[in-house]
Order: sequence, then C-alpha cells, then structure tokens
Amino acid sequence: MPGPGMELIGEEEKRELLEVLESGYLFRYGSPDNPAFKAKVYTLEQEVAKLAGVKYAVAVNSGTSALQAALGGLGVGPGDEVIVPGYTFIASMSSVVYSRAIPILAEVDRTLNLDPADVRRKITPRTKAILAVHMLGNPARLDELKAIADEHGLLLIEDCAQAFGASYKGRSVGSIGHAGMYSFNIFKTITAGDGGMVVTDDETAYRRFFGFHDQGHSPNRTGVEVGQRPFFGVDFRMTELTAAVLLAQLRKLDTLLSRLRINKKRFKGTIADISGLEFREITDPEGECATLLTVFLPNEAVARKVARDLGTKVVADSGWHVYNNMEQILEKRTITPEGCPYTCPYYKGGEVKYWKGMLPQTDALLARAINIGIGVSDPGLGSAFGVTIRDSFDTIDAKAAEFRRVALRYL
Ligand SMILES: Cc1ncc(COP(=O)(O)O)c(C=O)c1O
Repeated sequence: MPGPGMELIGEEEKRELLEVLESGYLFRYGSPDNPAFKAKVYTLEQEVAKLAGVKYAVAVNSGTSALQAALGGLGVGPGDEVIVPGYTFIASMSSVVYSRAIPILAEVDRTLNLDPADVRRKITPRTKAILAVHMLGNPARLDELKAIADEHGLLLIEDCAQAFGASYKGRSVGSIGHAGMYSFNIFKTITAGDGGMVVTDDETAYRRFFGFHDQGHSPNRTGVEVGQRPFFGVDFRMTELTAAVLLAQLRKLDTLLSRLRINKKRFKGTIADISGLEFREITDPEGECATLLTVFLPNEAVARKVARDLGTKVVADSGWHVYNNMEQILEKRTITPEGCPYTCPYYKGGEVKYWKGMLPQTDALLARAINIGIGVSDPGLGSAFGVTIRDSFDTIDAKAAEFRRVALRYL
C-alpha cells in the first residue's frame, strides 16, 4: 500500500462518496437551493483552511496544480528565479518552469530540506521566491527561511505535498509562508487518489489562486462572469467525488498521525543505540508526520551494502526525487524547442546550467541515507523497506530487528 491514508480507506469514504453519487450532482458549484448539491469541495476548503489556521483554501485536482496556482497567483513569472531544493519531486521545479520562471537548485542539509546557508548564496537580484519543500513529512527550517525571505523581500512558498498534517512550532505547515500547498495523491498522508489544495491568509492571493484554477472567475461563482475576469485561468477544479473521499479521510487525520508517530518512535527506539548510525535532523519532533524514518550510515559504501541487504536503495539511487535523476531539468527539456523560459528575453541571468553533481553536499548526504517507510511505501522515495500503518507492534519490532541485524554486519 502506498500511503497511510490509502490504507485506511473504508466505510466512511464509501458513505461520503455514495451521498454524492446518489444525489447525482458531481460539480463543485451549485445552488444552495438545490438539495442534490452537497457542497463537498466548498466544505473541504473550509475544513482544510481551519486545520491549517489560515483564512483561505482553494481545492484543485493535484498537488502540481496547487503549486502552479500558488506561483502564478503570487505573480512569479518571466525573468524571475525561484530557489528550490535539489531533493524534491520534479513538480517543485516543473511548476516554476511552467510559470515561465527559472528554478535555481540549492543544497539540502541534514534535515534533507533546504539549507538556509546555501539559499543565501543562491540569491540574486532576480530571485522572486524561495520554495521550501517539506520532504518526507518533515518541516524545513522555516524560521531561518522566513527570515531570509523577509530580509530580501522574497516570497516564501511552502510545498507541503509530503507533509499534510505536519506542524512547525505549533503552526501548521502551509500557514507560515505567503502560500502553502498540499497533495492528496496515493502516497500522501490522506488521499483520494489525486487532488491538491493551496492555502493562504491573503485575500488578494486567494482571489488570484481561485481565478487561476477556474478560467479567471471569482470564488464560488454562481454563473459565468462575462467581462469580469481579470486574467486567463485554466481548469484545475476538484470534483465533488474527490472532495467527498477527502472529507472522510480528513476526519481520520488525528488517529492516523498519532499512530504513525507511535510506530516511528517504536522503530527508532529499537535501533537508536546502534553505534555509527545517525538520524535525519527533525526540525520539530512534535510536529512531524512520521511517515518515514531516515537513517545516515557512516559512509556511502556501508550504506549501499545495508540498503542492498534490506532489499532497498540508498536515497541517492532511489529515483525521481533526486535532481541527479531528473533528466527534464538537467537537460532543460522544455516542451517546445524554443526553450522558454531559459531563452526568455525577460530573463537577464545569462545561460542557466544544471549538471549531475552540482550539489555536492546534497549528493554526499543522500548517498549514505536510507529511507525506512513508517507509513509510506514508495520505491520512488527509496522506502521499499519498512512498515505500514496497519502493522502490529510485533511486525514493527521484527522489521526493526531485521534492520539491526543487517546494519550490525557492517558497523
Ligand atoms: C514534494 C512534492 N511536491 C509536489 C508534488 C506534486 O503533487 P501531485 O502528485 O499531487 O501533483 C509531490 C507529489 O509527489 C511532491 O512529493
């Protein structure tokens, strides 16, 4: 099973979904006078905004769409640079490219999230935004990143695709930057197969996100606003079916997070005394999603042997979350041959180059890191070895013992 939410799909989701199907009305807009209209998308937006502690949320059809709406809505565009970590999902970069801006890759540190020191080094007069990605359920160093953004007048956008439900020093991720976004694909904390959400406290930004996601229209329209649409939008709308499933999933979030946290603590506690083994730095242990446990072995050779014996891979080899494995960005594979935005005349930064090995600190960390799944089993994250949210303590103990046995062969 890919993610914890998916494991918990059950009667509650069926009930919500059937309510919509039986009503026969599947579109997000409807009249309050129409009893068939259940307003699931609207309700989900209200509930997610409340959970995040922000005023506004716009539901969309994927996390990638949410990123696109956030960037476009906040005015990121031609000539701009956006600083993104080299360890993330490609959507954090492709959404910048489709905003016609330039992704600038930065190092991650022992949190496996953006390294604030490298972010500072990457700032130029063209920098418009910092995209802080909260990888593997854990918040980035938001205090430091926010301070840098404020100091330089930059936007801070939070990619919380992998961290729905996480908090940082008591505040939900997504509520700290100018905008935040979540993904509800199958690997995420809660899921409807696909889906996304963008959140903000800023009304102007909200209206722009909303318009972007629905052909320029204003929030919760009741008709077509001819003459009133301020810009071109697209159609990233969520259907009532998706929202129905997500509402049921949302009600399971607390149980889900507490189970993940207990399971992770148990797994970690069992292997914590292994000498030579280190753990990824967690910025806020109280607030993490606990979907994965990342360990650092002393060096790459040992890490590769341990990973091999466990039937998994070191994070550096895990696949598509590592910039070295992203041919789209390394070779700037734009969809049309003109090469926009890299050739855009608005861009004054000269030739942009990406290459394998351009982030040596990130490479060195990922080469000796192994991701153990606690609730997420995603070969693309390298978490083929691990446990699921439904596993008993006995299974968790057995898996932890297996890890210990294998690690001690080489440590
Ligand atoms: C860090 C990150 N950002 C963005 C996305 C995009 O989300 P989606 O798959 O819902 O489009 C993902 C999805 O895997 C992700 O992990």
